[in-house]
Amino acid sequence: MNVVLGVTGGIAAYKAVEITSRLKKAGFAVRVIMTRAAQEFVTPRPFAELSGERVVTSMWDDCTERHVEHIALADWADLLLVAPATANFIAKAAVGMADDMLTTVLLATKAPVMIAPAMNTDMLNNVATQKNIALLKERGVMIIEPAAGVLACGAVGAGRLPEPPTIVGEVKSFFDRRDNGVRSELINDCNGKLAGKKIIVTAGGTIAPIDPVRFIANRSGGKMGVATARAAAGAGANVVLVTGNITVALPTEPNIRLVSALTTDDMLKAVLAEFANADAVIMTAAVADYRVKDYSPQKIKKKANSFTLELVKNPDILRELGQQKQPGQILVGFAAETENLAEYAKRKLDEKNLDFIVANDVSRKDAGFDTDTNAAVIFYADGRAPEDFPLDSKDKLAGRIIRRLAEFF
Ligand code: PMT
Repeated sequence: MNVVLGVTGGIAAYKAVEITSRLKKAGFAVRVIMTRAAQEFVTPRPFAELSGERVVTSMWDDCTERHVEHIALADWADLLLVAPATANFIAKAAVGMADDMLTTVLLATKAPVMIAPAMNTDMLNNVATQKNIALLKERGVMIIEPAAGVLACGAVGAGRLPEPPTIVGEVKSFFDRRDNGVRSELINDCNGKLAGKKIIVTAGGTIAPIDPVRFIANRSGGKMGVATARAAAGAGANVVLVTGNITVALPTEPNIRLVSALTTDDMLKAVLAEFANADAVIMTAAVADYRVKDYSPQKIKKKANSFTLELVKNPDILRELGQQKQPGQILVGFAAETENLAEYAKRKLDEKNLDFIVANDVSRKDAGFDTDTNAAVIFYADGRAPEDFPLDSKDKLAGRIIRRLAEFF
């Protein structure tokens, strides 16, 4: 889950450092935007260290990783949290101004917005601020009520930024509420058909070790697989998530059991061990088709200018499952293609004896590997017309795949 944290210029800006740290520890990906005034109170460095990301401090930073940064950040966010939010920021938000990066992202994002006002009591109670807060509430902005106590200016009253654990608690309960909503929607849409079903999902890339320090890896961060596992769990299934080499945080749902399998051979064994009583398998993993013929148990020393690795074919896990599949078991594959998407995907559907295949064009920048979004075409073995799923978040695509899977039961 992605949180954009906006930090505005109040004395409580220092608490936003702890908020960043707690959000990261809770498993959120965090990008921080600081206003110019916020940088008068605290520097970007601790935010960068704790979030592991470059801190956005201006509209005019030289940005190499994102093309139009305010739109990229607005799209990336699952939640925009502004803590602390000054009276000035709240006023600008209320009238829809966009005169710096934070207000511009606020205007551009479709993500829910949560604001934690923090200021002097009189400024907070001023009719202008109260009207602005009321207007933001009317527009659906979530307001974390300020705490009361001794303020930095010496006054006693409301206006303190609540402590970081409270703010992070609000963020977590927002996502819990949202996930429960998604879950009950999924269970409804699936007519409860997946409740209690055993579904194996694979995620990430498998690796081919060369020696104790080197390996060849298939590209895949595991986002699509983890999203699929979470959607299946959300629909009430008991999920076995078999992970290869992944970079995404592992899910914590109680009905997802995690199994680690780094090489193709390990993944084959792990999947086969679970397959006999499984109702469905969804293979999103990018499985390495080849492994190194002669693994070196010692680190290979750097000598010659070039050296050749001989590769041998790995087993095809899905093909193996396709051969073993019993009536009632449903097999779903993914096809990662860079050309002839329909032709190659249909061939895999047929050759691996699948029920349907989710084909994605991995040459696109906004889809496939390591992106938050994906676009796909589903091809069915029962002769149904292919279905197009235009670009959307991987979570949404996963939900659609799980709804289609439920139709088989
Ligand atoms: O993890 P992300 O960064 O979010 O990226 C998601 C993704 C791009 C990895 C995912 O959407 C995807 O396309 N997964 C399939 C990757 C792949 O290996 O595709 P393929 O066309 O090479 O293989 C076809 C199918 O056979 C796949 O379901 C694959 O899991 C399976 N396979 C492939 C080779 C092999 N030896 N055994 C297999 O079971």
